[in-house]
Amino acid sequence: MRESVDLTTNLAGIRMRNPVMAASGTFGYGEEYASLIDVKKIGAIVLKSVTLKPRDGNVPPRLVETPAGLLNAIGIHNIGVEALKAEKLPGLRDAGTPVIVNIWGENVNEFVKVIEALEDVEGIAGIEVNLSCPNVGGTLFAQDAAAAEGLLENVRKKCALPLIAKLSPQVTDITLIAKACEDGGADAISLINSFPAMAIDVETKRPLLGNVTGGLSGPAIKPIAVKMVWEVSKAVKIPVVGMGGIMSASDAIEFMLAGAKAVAVGTANFVNPRTAEEIVNGIGNYLAKNGFSSVSQIVGVLDAR
Ligand SMILES: Cc1cc2nc3c(=O)[nH]c(=O)nc-3n(C[C@H](O)[C@H](O)[C@H](O)COP(=O)(O)O)c2cc1C
Repeated sequence: MRESVDLTTNLAGIRMRNPVMAASGTFGYGEEYASLIDVKKIGAIVLKSVTLKPRDGNVPPRLVETPAGLLNAIGIHNIGVEALKAEKLPGLRDAGTPVIVNIWGENVNEFVKVIEALEDVEGIAGIEVNLSCPNVGGTLFAQDAAAAEGLLENVRKKCALPLIAKLSPQVTDITLIAKACEDGGADAISLINSFPAMAIDVETKRPLLGNVTGGLSGPAIKPIAVKMVWEVSKAVKIPVVGMGGIMSASDAIEFMLAGAKAVAVGTANFVNPRTAEEIVNGIGNYLAKNGFSSVSQIVGVLDAR
């Protein structure tokens, strides 16, 4: 019965065997996880945000567990786009699953230089533009519709690959930013990035993160993310990738009912590296049990009475 269920998903031209992706920054460069899970079983992997030059990131501690989530202030610690091209992307061509490169820059010019450096590089299925990192300086593209649209327009000019705009939940109306990204040329929207937050050690009276503030992810943000995915998927015509606190197949299905065509698993990878694979199986079982023949049949079918 299970074999008859079609999980294949075409995300703005990225052909995936199922809709479950690994979220940026939580799956390394894929290789670390290859010894722990069968990467071919997940729909796609999104790499850690890459910048023009290598970055050391923020001072430690950079990760703090909270009762229902994870606070991180990594600060886009990464090897830089040239090392990514030379050391990581060649090996990832054999990953057996689409590889999406996530890019970040302090300003439009830096984003454009990163995308130029990736031009004609083989083995990239798509680009995710990180408009929304809460832990670094630079222009807050995800909080300004005009800036977001301008950034997408500039990246679009240099990029023939499917382009996904990744949004921040820290806005008054996320649909305005999503629409601006669509107008700027994005092929898909992904949301949400972590939510700006902090925690304090009452004994030392010091912040628990070296950077003082960070981004909250995990189950604590899931209901916020589901609502925003629901709003954005009604506001734009392009597909939406939902993420934020997905720990189980049931969580992933919630996002899909709310309108997400695909989902991404982040924090859960640190708890159980097999989460994404287990979610793929769980979605298949849910579809079979409920008489659906294709995963596309549950996208956006929320009965919002
Ligand atoms: C340790 C850590 C590092 C992250 N690094 C990035 C990053 O480099 N670029 C990015 O776009 N998102 C990054 N994220 C955000 C995740 O991709 C995701 O949007 C967010 O954590 C919400 O999903 P989750 O609750 O399943 O983790 C990071 C998240 C965590 C926990």
